[in-house]
Amino acid sequence: MTIHNFEGTNSVLNTFISEIRDQKIQKDPMRFRRNIERVGEVLGYELSKSLSYKSKSVTTPLGVKEIQIQDQEVVICSVLRAGLPLHQGLLNYFDHAENAFISAFRKHTNNSPKFEVIVKYFAAPSLENKVLILTDPMLATGKTLENVYKVLKTHGTPRSIHIVSLIGSKSGVENIDTIFPKSANLWIAAIDDILDKNGYIIPGIGDAGDLAFGQKL
Ligand code: URA
Repeated sequence: MTIHNFEGTNSVLNTFISEIRDQKIQKDPMRFRRNIERVGEVLGYELSKSLSYKSKSVTTPLGVKEIQIQDQEVVICSVLRAGLPLHQGLLNYFDHAENAFISAFRKHTNNSPKFEVIVKYFAAPSLENKVLILTDPMLATGKTLENVYKVLKTHGTPRSIHIVSLIGSKSGVENIDTIFPKSANLWIAAIDDILDKNGYIIPGIGDAGDLAFGQKL
């Protein structure tokens, strides 16, 4: 897997990430969601440079211009619910993308910090020979992506796989590197060193789903 980590590149992306991390600014859910969406837009733009293009003639009121247009079919797949703002950001730039959704949650037994990832709902088009963009805002252990990938494989073999993430832990990134094909790409805004015993990225941002959509019982 090729890792494209933009943490060390000075751009507005880091401004969005700093607001997403900031415990005061992240309390505004609308700003929090919009910042994640903006990260999706920036990472979508970056990954678009690696896709294939074909020439198209565009007629303007004054003449004709040849322009290179992205020519592969794209499917954006997100895990409910935290993945939704990142999904929307990508969809803002890939107008004709098809969409896939999966619900996955962490099941803890007897209040233990250990958990298994349960996948319940899955709705996806065929992935055969398409560009698969898989979002996971917080790439913590990598277990969610591992389970999601198992389910996705039942819908065909994509021509390429791009994982888009806000923040990952070092161990989570190492883990998915062993699961996805070597040709896969990870587009990520930052990688933090620590994963705590509850599976949270430190310093990270806290719980992305709760910050975006409110606490659940
Ligand atoms: N999911 C989150 O929302 N935050 C983390 O730190 C890890 C997983």
